[in-house]
Amino acid sequence: MMERVNRVALIGTGSVGSSYAFALLNQGVADELVLIDLHKDKAEGDAMDLNHGLAFAPANKKIWFGSYEDCELADIVVITAGANQKPGETRLDLLEKNTAIFKTIVESVMRSGFDGIFIVATNPVDILTYMTWEFSGLPVNKVIGSGTILDTARLRFQLSEYFNVDTRNVHAYIMGEHGDSELPVWSHANVGGRSVFDRIQDHPDKYDITDLDTIFEQVRDAAYHIIERKGATHYGIAMGLVRLTKAVLHNENAVLTISGYVNGSYGVDDLYIGVPAIVNRKGVTEIIQLDLNEEEKGKFTESASILKTTMEPVLK
Ligand code: 2OP
Repeated sequence: MMERVNRVALIGTGSVGSSYAFALLNQGVADELVLIDLHKDKAEGDAMDLNHGLAFAPANKKIWFGSYEDCELADIVVITAGANQKPGETRLDLLEKNTAIFKTIVESVMRSGFDGIFIVATNPVDILTYMTWEFSGLPVNKVIGSGTILDTARLRFQLSEYFNVDTRNVHAYIMGEHGDSELPVWSHANVGGRSVFDRIQDHPDKYDITDLDTIFEQVRDAAYHIIERKGATHYGIAMGLVRLTKAVLHNENAVLTISGYVNGSYGVDDLYIGVPAIVNRKGVTEIIQLDLNEEEKGKFTESASILKTTMEPVLK
């Protein structure tokens, strides 16, 4: 029997989209990649350029510049299209501009007959994921936002530097809005199975609990620092999107902090927000309910209410 061919359709070949395509090709994920963008020359040029790298890639792949009709057979549609932050702008500032763009994109994808999984990366990602769910009419599990996947990776990086251990042995989550109101879940953060608090106590000569605040600030403000220097962030998020793509296509049951639909857990109703969740071929199959401490609960509720208030005007 012939193995099923996996197709990813990418909408938006700006810096995030093209970095995603490049990372996907280098990691040998997906059999087919179709690039779609209003700026046809950019998408077509990217397809040509990426095809010239095929000879050096770990696996063969069909890459082409296409149109919304190509979404019909896609397993995943990844959306990275839209305006991004200028220095000084917050993610939430982009809402009006990008909601209008999203309505056209999602409706065009759905007209193709698409019935796969949406992965949304455009900011403000939690709200645009909600919009994608609304505009598409797909079940909630099939619409996933990149959420705090990158913030969690940033936290793991900072902790790995601080404790001098491999990033992959750091387990710690950022939850909430992918943005200024996000929070670190210190109560469940561990390094090699030992909680960060215990690890700090083990070595009072080296570590200090107040350093955790600085570590979190670096994570929360990372995008601002990068945008100040180079105008955009794209490699980290692109690799996070590939991670998410793999979790879906390979049916991994991976636990990732994504923007998932929360309705009842964490005291929050009817909202897409960053939470740890199980991701597989069906999309998001379970939101993991962590026992947050009182402070974390308060911060999560606050973050949820900021998202709700911000999205109200565009929901009408
Ligand atoms: C980031 O966090 C800007 O949301 C983007 O890198």
